[in-house]
Amino acid sequence: MASDLGMLEDRMAEEQKPPTGPDLKQGVQEDMLPDGGMLAGHAGEDEILLIRRGGEIFALGAHCTHYHGPLADGLVVGDTVRCPWHHACFNLRTGEAIAAPALSPLTCWKVEQRDGKIFVGEKRQDVKPASARARKSAPERVVIAGGGAAGFAAAEMLRRMDYQGSITMLSDDSAPPVDRPNLSKDYLAGNAPEDWVPLRADSFYSESAIDLRLATKITAINPNSREVVCGDGSTFRYDRLLLATGAEPVRLSLPGADQPHVYTLRSLADCRAIIARASEARRAVVIGASFIGLEVAASLRARNIEVHVVAPEKRPMERVMGPAMGDFIRKLHEEHGVVFHLEDTPAQIEAARVRLKSGTALDADLVIMGVGVRPRTQLAEAAGLRVDRGVMVNEFLETSAPGIFAAGDIARWPDAYSGQSIRVEHWVVAERQGQTAARNILGARERHNFVPFFWSQHYDVPINYVGHAESWDHIAVEGNIEAKDCLLRFQHAGRTLAVASIYRDIDSLKAEVEFGTARSA
Ligand SMILES: Cc1cc2nc3c(=O)[nH]c(=O)nc-3n(C[C@H](O)[C@H](O)[C@H](O)COP(=O)(O)OP(=O)(O)OC[C@H]3O[C@@H](n4cnc5c(N)ncnc54)[C@H](O)[C@@H]3O)c2cc1C
Ligand code: FES
Repeated sequence: MASDLGMLEDRMAEEQKPPTGPDLKQGVQEDMLPDGGMLAGHAGEDEILLIRRGGEIFALGAHCTHYHGPLADGLVVGDTVRCPWHHACFNLRTGEAIAAPALSPLTCWKVEQRDGKIFVGEKRQDVKPASARARKSAPERVVIAGGGAAGFAAAEMLRRMDYQGSITMLSDDSAPPVDRPNLSKDYLAGNAPEDWVPLRADSFYSESAIDLRLATKITAINPNSREVVCGDGSTFRYDRLLLATGAEPVRLSLPGADQPHVYTLRSLADCRAIIARASEARRAVVIGASFIGLEVAASLRARNIEVHVVAPEKRPMERVMGPAMGDFIRKLHEEHGVVFHLEDTPAQIEAARVRLKSGTALDADLVIMGVGVRPRTQLAEAAGLRVDRGVMVNEFLETSAPGIFAAGDIARWPDAYSGQSIRVEHWVVAERQGQTAARNILGARERHNFVPFFWSQHYDVPINYVGHAESWDHIAVEGNIEAKDCLLRFQHAGRTLAVASIYRDIDSLKAEVEFGTARSA
């Protein structure tokens, strides 16, 4: 897997360089494509991937529509191909992006076999996503509370499914749905242009008849009258409501924490404000050695800012990744100039420095708190929905109130693999839950049984994580963490609950398939 920066460079280079591999219009010998095999080639300017499944041969765009991942390095599973980078899943017959994080389909080409050769023909215009089946008993009005990962994915899926009723998306953010993971990575580092940040162009919403209301805060939900009330007094009636209000960053209540040079990071506006400050800042203190804290540290180093990380734990990310990976991550950041102050906490933030409990004073003209998030469950609680460290949903993502679904960072769902109710804060999970909720809003009765997946990026090191392990009694390490080529299995009583990997994309994909099979068994 390439780094995000690598992805960006790949993407720009790919756009300029001529396509490689055999010319598929001229044909390739059939024996070059065994059953289950993939072959990358081109037709004119277009890069194409040939895939054979038994007697059928498919020709699809060779790159994932999320961040341009090379699908030839991915995995074919049944009638799908999975992207090696962040596990998007595409249907081989239609090219449809059936599971996030990719949302747009792959182009499909016609394929012909003659004289022992395979030829790629014209682009197929006849493909329609399998999702596009009009439903007889669709609700008239769908309201989506939240314009983030889950909310956007739900709205997009509803329209993809040919839903003809009204969709209103209410968001208290002033920006349309954005690619939030990018806010701590390439965009913050200054490596991605801002036009890569929105999930869709502004015109998408009007063209798709999605009534997107920005800077609109919902203040109450009335499950009896099926109505949401907003801060400006407007009300919206719904037949189905999706709660996707996400999470908000925790702000430590320290003396000086309310000063203008102290930031948290969740929204595009937060990120723009940090970038503006970073253009003048020389020294930053990042409070918290979480994923977001450390991604921010890496991005600020890319801007040549001195970075100090302060956190109470002994090792960064040890709670999720274990001690060996924690040590590796620490060393990686230190090699890039980050200075850690672990087993210490901030006591006070002053205009030009942060004082720690240990007595150390760190000069800082920029302070970022990355100390975790809190799910935004207040609306659900006030409306009388069942809430227990998250909005409780069943396997269909239905809350305790009829007609109300919940998805994303706020939702706690019964996980079939662990047998526990879990809530996770991952981009792909939020999007996939949004997609499942959309299908269920239209009556599909589909269980949410996707395996949790997240990725994190630190300089040139991508970390992929599949599954969910809140605790474990053993970590089995395959490969070499230091050499950035490893797979860690988090096990409890001999059973693998999750795997983390660096540059072991196929193994990570296979683990996802194994966990998924176990869930549905
Ligand atoms: C900087 C950053 C980087 C991240 N990187 C990664 C990563 O690399 N990998 C990964 O797996 N995950 C990552 N995450 C986590 C991921 O972004 C979240 O898990 C995901 O966004 C959750 O989606 P959601 O739809 O539940 O919430 P959100 O995307 O937060 O959307 C919530 C929406 O609800 C709106 N809202 C909330 N309350 C109200 C209200 N009362 N009225 C109206 N609107 C309201 C908000 O404005 C927002 O539009 C990152 C998060 C951040 C902040
Ligand atoms: S590049 Fe394919 S899922 Fe991200």
